Amino acid sequence: MRKLVPFMKKYTSYAVLCPILMITEVVADIVIPYLMSLIVDVGIANRDVGYVVKIGGIMILAALIGMILGVISSYFGATAGYGFAAEIRKAVFKKVQDFSFANLDKFSVSSLITRLTNDCNTLGQVAMMSLRMAVRAPFLMVFALIMAFRINARLASVFMVSIPLTVILLGIIMAKARPLFIKMQSRVDRVNAIIQENLIGIRVVKSFNRQKHEEQRFKERNDLLRDTALKAISIVIFLLPVLTVVTYATIIAVLWFGGKQVVVGTMGSGELVSFITYITQILMSLMMLSFFFMQFLRGAASASRIVEVLETESEIKEAPDPVAEVKDGSISFENVSFAYPLSSDKALKNINLEINSGETIGIIGSTGSAKSTLVQLIPRLYDATEGVVKVSGVNVKNYSLKTLRDKVAFVLQKNVLFTGTIRENMQWGNENADDEQIITALKHSHAWEFVSSYEDMLDHKVEQGGDNFSGGQKQRLTIARALIKSPKIIILDDSTSAVDMTTDAKIQKAFKENLSNVTTIIIAQRISSIQRADRILVMNEGKIESVGSHEELMKNSPIYKEIYESQQKGVVGQ
Ligand SMILES: Nc1ncnc2c1ncn2[C@@H]1O[C@H](COP(=O)(O)OP(=O)(O)OP(=O)(O)O)[C@@H](O)[C@H]1O
Ligand SMILES: [Mg+2]
Repeated sequence: MRKLVPFMKKYTSYAVLCPILMITEVVADIVIPYLMSLIVDVGIANRDVGYVVKIGGIMILAALIGMILGVISSYFGATAGYGFAAEIRKAVFKKVQDFSFANLDKFSVSSLITRLTNDCNTLGQVAMMSLRMAVRAPFLMVFALIMAFRINARLASVFMVSIPLTVILLGIIMAKARPLFIKMQSRVDRVNAIIQENLIGIRVVKSFNRQKHEEQRFKERNDLLRDTALKAISIVIFLLPVLTVVTYATIIAVLWFGGKQVVVGTMGSGELVSFITYITQILMSLMMLSFFFMQFLRGAASASRIVEVLETESEIKEAPDPVAEVKDGSISFENVSFAYPLSSDKALKNINLEINSGETIGIIGSTGSAKSTLVQLIPRLYDATEGVVKVSGVNVKNYSLKTLRDKVAFVLQKNVLFTGTIRENMQWGNENADDEQIITALKHSHAWEFVSSYEDMLDHKVEQGGDNFSGGQKQRLTIARALIKSPKIIILDDSTSAVDMTTDAKIQKAFKENLSNVTTIIIAQRISSIQRADRILVMNEGKIESVGSHEELMKNSPIYKEIYESQQKGVVGQ
């Protein structure tokens, strides 16, 4: 938790004022029973109405001041707590934005969401409680003890028994509850994970009719969480009754011994009453402390999960002296091998490849043959494990990420659009793009055909993930978004798989006519999508099996020929 303290900096004044005001509130709490004893022992005993009114007035004033300061202190505490949580959330969010794909492979998305929501909230609450309870409880206890001893030191010796007894009982309860609370945290995690996974994939769940199965999976985890929570609570519910018993026992002891003193006249009856109030305050503050520790444990678990994210270094590091310009669109792979972070097998094995600027390259190969893996190394979504990838003759690691990714546009295989308008989504590629540029890009990707048919055209709304578009429409929009960058290299990873053959051919034609000096890499399952490329790579099991034009490959590559023939059959069969 110490590592998170700097996030409180912006709210330092609130974090300092909250406990200070809290202490004043405690003073009022302490003064009131004392004033009460004065009313009983002096005012009532002497039948002095003026005195009773005067002290009564002071009592009300003390109560009012205590209340007002208490409210302000709570407000400051809440400001500091929520502010603290917001600062941490901001930092975690920023960190995740900097994460490389490799980092994302290690933290799952659902775990990151839980950390950004639950864990940050818990920390905010714990901070707020720490500022209030952790200050209030010890002060209240110390002041009340002092007052009790001042009133009657002999009588105060009952605390020698009741305080250690309470501490031991609370200690036992806490020790039993603690592991359960920690377990509960991880169970909450698992429930959240399943909720998130399910909601993100809700359409898939429904189309596979897996609702029952998912409900069952959810029920198991949910029940487990409930049982753990119940177990923890069934221990904690003993806190209050145990404390009440101890408190009443102490009060009885005090009444017994103190009563005798009142009879003898060595103690005022008002003193006895205020003494009992202090007892309650002392034992209550012990309980507050134990609650606080419990919360603190939860907070500590959250803190370590947050620090884990904050301390993760991005796997992709910026070059110290970056090259500022990508001169042309040539690419070369020199003895490149690559293994995914969590995998021991090499996905790419010893790749050597030269691509000229402005060339159109098609990539084909069976699923899992590492086509996506190969092209992901060009904009440094991952770094090569061995060997060097160069763009325009410069190692990709020597460019700044911004320069490189501005010039290498990548349409991912799993692509999404974001909530907003079509225009806003297009401006993702280039903030300054005007409508004319956007429409040109949409025309090149043949998305303008359907966008122009909307009444509101570029202002047409995009729902979360782009769910209000068909698969093929979405693909054409994501291609346009990449084109708007005016890149030197554009990579289309299976980006026209959902587009019909005629439109696909039109897109290829538009690319040839308008983007002839842009290096274009097209990954496709259909030979027709890449047939007219300058060169075609055939990938197989992480290696380039052969390279050549369509005609050459038909002669030399058995794999290519087989793919071609199987697809021709399909066409003839139709
Ligand atoms: N994030 C990842 N973490 C670990 N392994 C991965 C990851 N992504 C892909 N792989 C593995 O790397 C290999 C190559 O995958 P890749 O996605 O490059 O194939 P692909 O040729 O693009 O296939 P497809 O045609 O289905 O898109 C596969 O065996 C896959 O299981
Ligand atoms: Mg792929």
